[in-house]
Amino acid sequence: MSLIKFIRISLIIQISVILNNFHAVTSSFDLNPRHFPKDFLWGVGSSSYQIEGGWNADDKGESIWDYMTHNHPEKIADRSNGDISSDSYHHWRRDVQMVHELHVKTYRFSISWPRIMPGGYMNQVSTAGIKYYSALIDELLHYNITPMVTMYHWELPQRLQELGGWTNPEIIPLFKDYARLLLEMFGDRVQIWTTINEPWHVCEHGYGVDYMAPAYNYPGIPAYLCGHNLLKAHAEVVHMYRAEYKKRQGGRMGITLDTSWMEPKSNSPEDREASQRALEFYVGWFGHPIFSTHGNYPATMVDRIRNLSKEQGFSRSRLPEFTKEEIQRIRGTADFFGINTYTTSLVTSNDHNNSAKFPIPSFNHDMGVVESQDPNWTGSGSVWLKVYPKGIYNLLMWIKKEYNNPPVIVTESGVSDRGGLEDYPRVDYYNQYLNFVLDALEDGANVQGYIAWSLMDSYEWKAGFTEKFGLYHVDFNDPQRKRTPKISARVFAHICKTNRIDWNYRPSLNEEQITAMSRLPALETTSGSAGRGLSQRSYLRNILVRSLSLVLIVLALAKYLK
Ligand SMILES: *[C@@H]1O[C@H](CO)[C@@H](O)[C@H](O)[C@H]1NC(C)=O
Ligand SMILES: *[C@@H]1O[C@H](CO)[C@@H](O)[C@H](O)[C@H]1NC(C)=O
Ligand SMILES: *[C@@H]1O[C@H](CO)[C@@H](O)[C@H](O)[C@H]1NC(C)=O
Repeated sequence: MSLIKFIRISLIIQISVILNNFHAVTSSFDLNPRHFPKDFLWGVGSSSYQIEGGWNADDKGESIWDYMTHNHPEKIADRSNGDISSDSYHHWRRDVQMVHELHVKTYRFSISWPRIMPGGYMNQVSTAGIKYYSALIDELLHYNITPMVTMYHWELPQRLQELGGWTNPEIIPLFKDYARLLLEMFGDRVQIWTTINEPWHVCEHGYGVDYMAPAYNYPGIPAYLCGHNLLKAHAEVVHMYRAEYKKRQGGRMGITLDTSWMEPKSNSPEDREASQRALEFYVGWFGHPIFSTHGNYPATMVDRIRNLSKEQGFSRSRLPEFTKEEIQRIRGTADFFGINTYTTSLVTSNDHNNSAKFPIPSFNHDMGVVESQDPNWTGSGSVWLKVYPKGIYNLLMWIKKEYNNPPVIVTESGVSDRGGLEDYPRVDYYNQYLNFVLDALEDGANVQGYIAWSLMDSYEWKAGFTEKFGLYHVDFNDPQRKRTPKISARVFAHICKTNRIDWNYRPSLNEEQITAMSRLPALETTSGSAGRGLSQRSYLRNILVRSLSLVLIVLALAKYLK
């Protein structure tokens, strides 16, 4: 073989290798990425009890969470409380700066009812409380960030709990008074409202089981009374808004429901039916009365609870009935569908012998669904939260089908860990979940926004400070509660800024972050760095492969041109 021939052959071999690599290079550079719609509402969220602290600052009243954490610290994983937490009552200017740094368009936060109405009634209104939220709203507007305000994120004034809380119909006019005060004080500047965050948690976890405050642990009865009053209270507030404020103030008002995606455990008709039934109990309980064509609770729920109540010897259904007028009054009372979702359950039916051993009666027994998770799914800092990205797609498509494609805002989505700043698993979570949001958009779901949970580490309810959801790290040992962006904050900001997912953007720690890391207790830095070793290695490999192929391309071109 002549030298020339040898060179030619090796050139051909090289070119084919290069072409092969070139595909890898272009696909990793992602020359034609999918974009989110131009006006997609990017946001980040928090809630008052979780971040504010200042539990008795100025004339704030006691909430059911103050009461529970002070009187029953044994109910909280680390016996902590939200007395100080991230101390946003004092550091709200820094909070807004962080929201600004994230390039989001909206900040979803909640107002603490007892901070502005200490006893829950209009007879006592706190000027300090109103000033606090007013200044926060003005600061957001100064940065051109739309405030998205939740009226109720679980902070009921304790005095109202002593009246039975959400199980007492008296809550309806009281909630309306509170909402009216918010609309009067802030409605000129707030364009997006949600009435109530996660009614299912408020009612079932608050009254049915010993979980969220007030932790009644009274299964099968009060949760349904709670839901009934809550739906009416929500509807009255939306009607008041539409009749008296909306035209003048020009905003919109919705509600935020929550659920995991309910994946059939197998493809059997029974498991698929269990999936549909679970979604009707978790989402439909509140979604059907507001968003369905006919209104009212889902028929499955009405039938099952009526039948089971009868079997159990009750003289009427434990699920209260709406009148025809009430059904009409509640139907259609939302300008958008807010949904919080984090994870997925595998579901199958409970059998007639109640082999799942649910209490009788109880919400779980009424629903008749047994939930589990695949141990192979990626875990997180919370036992209940496993990473199953396709769940968000399935859920968005289910809402589209079930409720005639309403405008949806994902009002919470995110993942926990146990601390640290190098949170590459959180980066993966957002990339993967958002990729499935893009799929849902392409398949016609009317998704208008995505709000990451959460702006910063905060008080995670029963888990205390043991589980972290923040894009920003908060140093709870520092009296100033210093906040530092995690890796995920920089990645999420990049997504919001560019309107697309950049799979290759995996920055390493910058100086600010390295300094902050050095101040953390050893426990936090080690738990964070486990994930980092792996992903940094694959990142380096990526870079190496890319540079090599580029060198080869240049060499080949040089030879070809000779
Ligand atoms: C409830 O009972 C009625 C009458 O016995 C029956 O036709 C119906 O199928 C039952 N519904 C459910 C969901 O069990
Ligand atoms: C329910 O229990 C009865 C009596 O113990 C038994 O005969 C039946 O097989 C059980 N059914 C199921 C679905 O487990
Ligand atoms: C988990 O993965 C293992 C190995 O791939 C597989 O054998 C097992 O069935 C999986 N578990 C579940 C619950 O799917």
